[in-house]
This record gives sequence, structure tokens and C-alpha cells, in this order.
Amino acid sequence: MDPSDHTILILDDEELIRESLDRLLRNNDLHAITVESAEDAFNVLRRVPVSMIISDHRMPIMSGLDFMIKVREKYPDIIRIMLTAFSEQSLMQRAINEGEIYRFFDKPWNDNELITVINKALKQKDIEIERNRQLYVQLQQSNIETVMALAEAIELKDTYTKGHCTRVRDFAIELARSVGVPNEQLLHLIYGALLHDCGKIGIDETILGKPGKLTTKQIEVMKHHTVLGYELTNSVKHLKTASIFIRQHHERWDGKGYPDGIGQNQIHICSRIITIADTFDAMTSDRPYRDGLEISKAREILIQNKGSQFDPMLVDKFVYLLDKRGINGLLNRNIGQRNQNKHTLMFVDDDKRILKSLTRLFQSDGYNILTASSADQALKMLKYEHADVVVSDQNMPGMKGVEFLKIVKTKCPATARIILSGYADLDKAMAAINDAGIYKFIMKPWKDHEFHATIQNAIDWKQMSQNMNTLLH
Ligand SMILES: [Fe+2]
Repeated sequence: MDPSDHTILILDDEELIRESLDRLLRNNDLHAITVESAEDAFNVLRRVPVSMIISDHRMPIMSGLDFMIKVREKYPDIIRIMLTAFSEQSLMQRAINEGEIYRFFDKPWNDNELITVINKALKQKDIEIERNRQLYVQLQQSNIETVMALAEAIELKDTYTKGHCTRVRDFAIELARSVGVPNEQLLHLIYGALLHDCGKIGIDETILGKPGKLTTKQIEVMKHHTVLGYELTNSVKHLKTASIFIRQHHERWDGKGYPDGIGQNQIHICSRIITIADTFDAMTSDRPYRDGLEISKAREILIQNKGSQFDPMLVDKFVYLLDKRGINGLLNRNIGQRNQNKHTLMFVDDDKRILKSLTRLFQSDGYNILTASSADQALKMLKYEHADVVVSDQNMPGMKGVEFLKIVKTKCPATARIILSGYADLDKAMAAINDAGIYKFIMKPWKDHEFHATIQNAIDWKQMSQNMNTLLH
């Protein structure tokens, strides 16, 4: 940010001082707003983002220091500079302790000194803003990665749901946007949609995978996945809001749902949205024991059940979107579909035979393949080439796989990282997962179909986290 992009608020009851400060700042390419009272200053602060305040101390009604103390409480990030006609020990002490004043200037001030201090403070503020932004992005990225890992674990447990969570997410986002769910709730909605069935992790696989009808007792066990999911996510800070949607995703508009039997507006709008998205996708997806319903049939069932199972307003909106854009329109416009572009895989191994066999294994799938026989060579290539997934051997002469992937993580954070190891070494595995953000471990000798699935999942994972970032920024 340029210093001229910041707004500086000047507060002084003397017109001459205000004018001379304003002129000084303007002559130095700084933008200022001048006000003569604390009341006017607060009016400006309510409307305009201000980076710095320069205030006189001696003023009628409210002193500059009392004003600054209030500013500190309400707008702690604004840099506060005070002008005083006298330097009084007790005033300085209060100002430092209670007002956290950045700097004092005696009147008359030295122009050059004041401008230098202002520019330095604004620069520091920019550095702080950028650091906070980066921390926020990092935190959000790691939250997304956790949620994606958990969503993947659900799909592993309940294989027929492959792709279900991401489709539910896509339908839910489109529906939420169309009814004006505020942006700040969208991230929670995404988490809730992806993890709506995470409680199934705690349900016995014989019940989950049972092809036929469940017994009454089994139905009760199955219903418990809502509460289990809630309990699993409620204690995680960034999933707290989503945990409510997870708990409520089988509630019904008429109050006959579970687990709490609440109805209508007692159910959060995001939960009601997820219910429709979930049911619609479940109806239209193929299961091992039955084909998915025709879209027109599923559409009809939604309409038949509006006002009983579903929020009628949301069904109308969803049907409208479906008619207008079609099912693929809802998924394609969003982020659920796998990108059909050619993806690039990089294999790094000092054993040429392994590189050859991996190239053979994946080339026929239409991937672009890059190979390198050492970490150094791979890093050189990555300066000019982009790889969606890097698979590296652990034991190579020179730099080891984990060290190499750690560098890849910093230089190309969007690349999914997989390590290939000839032996099971748990300590190394843990270190790799923690330090290098390794997506998966593959043991040598690998099984071709498992390797294929891992690569495809890595690409899906990478794309989903990328898309979620795009969506959020
Ligand atoms: Fe469910």
C-alpha cells in the first residue's frame, strides 16, 4: 500500500493548526481529513477507514487524551499521535498507559520530523496488515485441508458416497447464494456440507454397507450419525458453526425429523439447504443396489415434500435453479466437477527402472509426465515446469525425499506431495506428514490400482482446496 492510500484524521479545535497540518500532509502526498471536535471525529470514524489520528490534547468538551482512550477501545488498530502544547509528566504517563499513543509532538512541531514519523508508522502498519493477511490465509488453508482430509475419510468409510459430499457442497452453495445467505456464513456452509455425514465414521460398517432394508434397531443406530457428527466437530473451533448444520441435516420442516424433532425456522437455514442438497444428490446417485432416479422424478419428489420434509421456499428456489441451469450447470458453475485439463505428474527416484515403470503406468491415462533422478534435478525442473502432483522416493543419494518435499511445499504450495518408500518407517512417516505436508505415503512395491486411486484423489484434493480458496477470496 502506498502511504497516500491511507487516510489520516486530524483533530484540533484551532482552525490554523488544522489547516497547516492539512497542507503539510498534502504537500507530502498524504491524504487527510480534518475535524474540530471529538464528536465530528467519531462521525468520520464510523464512515471512513482511518489509519492514523493526529489529535491535539487541549480541547473544549473532551480532551485529546480522553478521545484517544476511547479510540483505542473502539478502533485499536488506528495509529495515534498526539500534539501537545506542553509536555506534562502525568499526562504522558496516562497517554502511554491508557491511550497507547504511538508518538507525542510538542507544538510547534518540526515538519520533517513529523512527516518521517508518519511515513514510518504507516509503513509498519502495512507490514502488520500483510503479516495478518498471510496468517489468516495460512490458517484458512490448513482448516480447509483438515476438512478435506476428514471428508475423504468419510468417503473411504462409505464408498458408495464417492463424490457425494462435494456435490452436496456445490448444490448447497448455489442454493445459499440464490437466497442471499451472507458471505460470512458460506464457509461454514461449505464445511457443513462436506462433513454432513462425518458421524458415519462412528457407525458400524455392516450397517453402513447393508444393501437391503435396515431393521428398526439398525435405523436407530444409523440416525445417531447426526449426533456423532455434531460431537466430532463441535469442539473444533473453526467447525463449531458447521457442527450445528451437521446435527440438523436430517431435521424436517414439519418437525418430524431427527435427532431433535425441531421444525421450520428453528432449523438453521444452512441446515435446511444442506437437507435439500443431500436428499437430491442421494436420490439421483447410483447405489450398488439401485440406479439413481431420473432428475425429473427427484425434482417431483422434492416438490411433493415441500412443507413436510423441506422448507417450501428453498424447494421453489432449488427447482428454479435446476430448471434454469440443469444439474450439470449447478455443478459445473461451481467447483465440484473434476477439471478435465491434462494434469502433470512428476516422479523423482534415483532408480531409473522405477521411473520407467511409473511413466508407463500413468502415461496411458493421459497425464503429462516429468521425471527426475534426484531432488536437485527435480527442483531445477520445477523452476520452469508446473506439476500438480510430485511423487518422490525417500531414499535417494543426496537430498532425501522428505527434505525435497519440504522445499516443494514452500516453493509450490499448491502441488500435492506423495512420498514413495521402500520400507515402513513410522518415525520418518510422521516427520514427513508434519514437516512436509505430505499428502500420502505409498509403499514399494505398490499396487497399480491403489497408486492410480491415490494420484486421482490427490488431484481431486488439490483442485478442491484450490477451488475453495478461489471461492473464499
Ligand atoms: Fe446424513
